[in-house]
This record gives sequence, C-alpha cells and structure tokens, in this order.
Amino acid sequence: MTGVVLDGKKISREIQEELRPRIEALRAAKRAPALAVVLVGENPASQIYVRSKIKACHDLGIRSIELRPPGDISTEELISQIVPLTKDPEVDGILVQMPLPKQIDADKVTSYVDPMRDVDGFGTHNLGSLVLNDPAPRACTPAGIMEMLKRYRIPIAGRHAVVVGRSNIVGKPMALMLLHENATVTICHSRTKNLAEECRRADILVAAIGKAEAITAEHIKPGAVVVDVGMNRLTDPAQVHRLLGHDPARMAAFAKSGSALVGDVEPRAMQELSSAYTPVPGGVGPLTIAMLMANTVLLAEMRLNGRSSGC
Ligand code: GUN
Repeated sequence: MTGVVLDGKKISREIQEELRPRIEALRAAKRAPALAVVLVGENPASQIYVRSKIKACHDLGIRSIELRPPGDISTEELISQIVPLTKDPEVDGILVQMPLPKQIDADKVTSYVDPMRDVDGFGTHNLGSLVLNDPAPRACTPAGIMEMLKRYRIPIAGRHAVVVGRSNIVGKPMALMLLHENATVTICHSRTKNLAEECRRADILVAAIGKAEAITAEHIKPGAVVVDVGMNRLTDPAQVHRLLGHDPARMAAFAKSGSALVGDVEPRAMQELSSAYTPVPGGVGPLTIAMLMANTVLLAEMRLNGRSSGC
C-alpha cells in the first residue's frame, strides 16, 4: 500500500482564500484585522516560524505588529510589554511564540494574554472552552489537523486515535478535539509502556513528540492514517541517509544545504504502511499558519460584533 498524501499546503491555501471575503468585510466595516506577534530572543526555528506567520498576514491583508524583546528578558518585563497590547483596541490577536527562554514562566505569561485576544487558545479560559467544546479560538496546530481530516473526509467517529505527546500546544488539545468528534482516544507519552503496541492500535496516529525516528514501521498499523507533527532539522549525514536515502530529490537538497527537515515518523514506513499521511515538510506546518490567520479573523469579527460567542 502507498498512502495518499494529505496536502497541507493545498488545504492551507483553501482556508486562507476562504478568509479573504471575511477580511474584506472587516475592512469595510471598521479596519483590517490585526495580530501582534511576540518573539523573545533568537531561537532560529522560532524566527523562521514567525517570519512565515508575518508573511501570511501580509499576503492576506492582516496587519501585523512585531515585538522582539531580548532573550534575557525577565517574566515580569515581558508581561509589562504584553499588557499594553491586551488593552489596545487596534489589536485583535496576541501570539507569544513558544518555546520561551528557560528563565521565563511561560504559563504566567500566557495567563496575561486576555481571552479575547488569545489567538493560540493557550490561556486557561480558552482551554476551558475547548474542554467544554464551546466556540472559542483553538490551538492552531491541532485545529489545522482537524480541518484537514475533515476536508479529506477521513472518518473519525468510532475510530481509535492515538496521540503521542502531551504538550499543552499540541498533544492535549489534539486529544480533546478528536474526542469531541467521537474518536476513542489514547494519549501516549514518555512514560508509556509498550509505545509501539499502543500505536499499532491506532486507526489515526498523531505523532507530536519532537524527535526524529521516534515512530517507525513497528508503530504503524497497516492502513492507518498517520499525522506527523514533528519538525526536526537534521545535519547528521548518516541519519539523513537512513531516513531519506530512498528519495534522490531530498538527498540532493541535503547535499546542497547541509540540513534536512524531517518529522517524528520514519518517512518510508509512513508512506508504505499508511492509507494516508502528512508529509514533512508540506503537511501539518502550513495548516498551523492557516488556522492562526483564521483565529485572528474570528477574534476580529467577535470584537466587531461585541464578541457574543465563545470568549
Ligand atoms: N510554537 C510552536 N507552535 C506554536 C504555536 O502554534 N503557537 C505559538 N505561539 N508558538 C508555537
């Protein structure tokens, strides 16, 4: 079997095109939606993600406001930069790029982003709404995955979904979103015994671990749908060869650039065993950005309409 590619770029374009008339309507009624992006320090991966997010805003006509505090900022200082944004009537969404440097209390910072501007859905209020399945902004990566499963008409109700990873950003919200669509959900993590055995039960397997080669052929039930959330940049030629040696185009790109982006799932196993899978790159990544744009538009609409629903 060769799995169908779940094309995140295509779905991301569709979602963003559907936002255009809503953005136009907001512009006509008041002003363009506006997103504040806070990037602390110089984390190279975060810099790339934030650049993509700001470009997406620009392409859609969403105003972006960038704050780039230094990497050695304290929790209190960072909060003092965020608080004015939470009072600014010209700001619809606030995104604090994760991960934050070690000295910062990320949960405390997140708690200062008001629910009406919590575009990532990371705060206590919006996480509560997720648990209750009330309308509110949802964490962008799992929300994008749900949107993709829906658009590819992948059945969820009654199926066994296994989520590997229990982060607040992906694993936990993902599990709840699958549960709300009536999947039977298992969450696996670093202390799970017999991970491969648990994963092999999955009709839908979501890997959100953050480690290349964490999921291999022995973890995948033939015919499963595999969603690979991992984004791991590899530079070790032996490892790259092991994972991408079957793909001449990717090996040529690696020879040129010296690095390769892979997910958490061994690419060949995923292609050969799954019925459908998200490639890395081009799978989950673009969906996160599309949902960020969608959440920004949603918050701007709620602001305009006196935010009657959700938050
Ligand atoms: N870091 C990785 N993914 C995300 C995300 O969706 N939002 C934020 N704020 N940070 C992230």
